[in-house]
Amino acid sequence: MVPLPPLFAAPPTVYAVGGAYVVCVPVTAECTMWVECAGTVSYDHANGILRSGRPVHLASVPRGVLDSARSYSVHLRPIVERKPYFTETGEVQSFETAFRPVEPRDGVLRLLNVPDTHSFVDGAVSAAERLGRTPDMLVLCGDIPEDCGSAERMTVPHLIAGRITGGEYPAVFARGNHDLRGVYAEQYADLTPTEGGRSYHEFRLGPVWGLVLDTGEDKRDDCREYGWTVCCEAFREEEERWLRETLARGAPADAKFRLVACHNPFAFRIHPPFDIEGPRWTRWCAMLAPLGFQAMVTGHLHECWLEAPGGEHDTYGAPCPVVCSSLLDRDAGTYTCGWVEIGEDGAVAVEFVDQDGKIRGREALPAPSAREP
Ligand SMILES: [Fe+2]
Repeated sequence: MVPLPPLFAAPPTVYAVGGAYVVCVPVTAECTMWVECAGTVSYDHANGILRSGRPVHLASVPRGVLDSARSYSVHLRPIVERKPYFTETGEVQSFETAFRPVEPRDGVLRLLNVPDTHSFVDGAVSAAERLGRTPDMLVLCGDIPEDCGSAERMTVPHLIAGRITGGEYPAVFARGNHDLRGVYAEQYADLTPTEGGRSYHEFRLGPVWGLVLDTGEDKRDDCREYGWTVCCEAFREEEERWLRETLARGAPADAKFRLVACHNPFAFRIHPPFDIEGPRWTRWCAMLAPLGFQAMVTGHLHECWLEAPGGEHDTYGAPCPVVCSSLLDRDAGTYTCGWVEIGEDGAVAVEFVDQDGKIRGREALPAPSAREP
């Protein structure tokens, strides 16, 4: 890999959000940012003002343009002193890379599911690097920083995704409950790819159509831990209205792969005080079930398993096979994530990969037509 210019805290990440890509890069000092792709220039700006005083930059790039160009460059201009007149700037620093759109081979989508890193950046990056295989896409599946109590912590998802992908293939980010904690969590939409500020959205990646869902906090809003700073019940109600409208449109006809990414495997009722929203999860499962999703990738439980509907972790009627793939022991420096293979026919296979790239377990489900009733 070409050495990273010093303003880049990590290589960029190309996130899929709605019908677009959002190129995102964490930075080491104040700068402005723009992306060039096949003659199209996309800026990180606010109503024509190039944004600078931020640890993360984002610019939206048309998906078709980048998929055709298969390369792009990110540019950062350091700010020496930003003033109303005659702002002082430094030399532009640039990073250029090839890009590979999602084009699954042999009818199989290969993805790396990385949940519950809880700020253990090196463990997650090491698992991906030492595994020695490149997936079609990365899923950052929530609880990526331990909390959002500082601006630096908001860069953790982009440090991990940038270092794993090198900016060369796409990612999606599903928020977890720890991503809601700390004063910077309210700036999520400013420092993380979202659709119009929403943390839940659809995405398209070639033949893949997916939903990123967000179950918010994992206990009731009046839990003392939150100190009256969350309204996740209202948030989930808004999300449910969006989900109903989105699913009413049906899956795109050309979506060979249908995927849900959600931190919380919400079909499973956890013990109190985490046993919230049972009726809502029952409704969400029932709404999702007819759409033919081949898999839901999750984390949250810090466990590793793959289950068909009706499995041990299915309380509310799981709409499709569910993958949970995270184990973390920060004291021991160990972390496990999931290499997931999803067939067009609905067969699902998972390998649980540790920080040394070793396979700690394998599970597989045949296509639905071949499963036990
Ligand atoms: Fe977690």
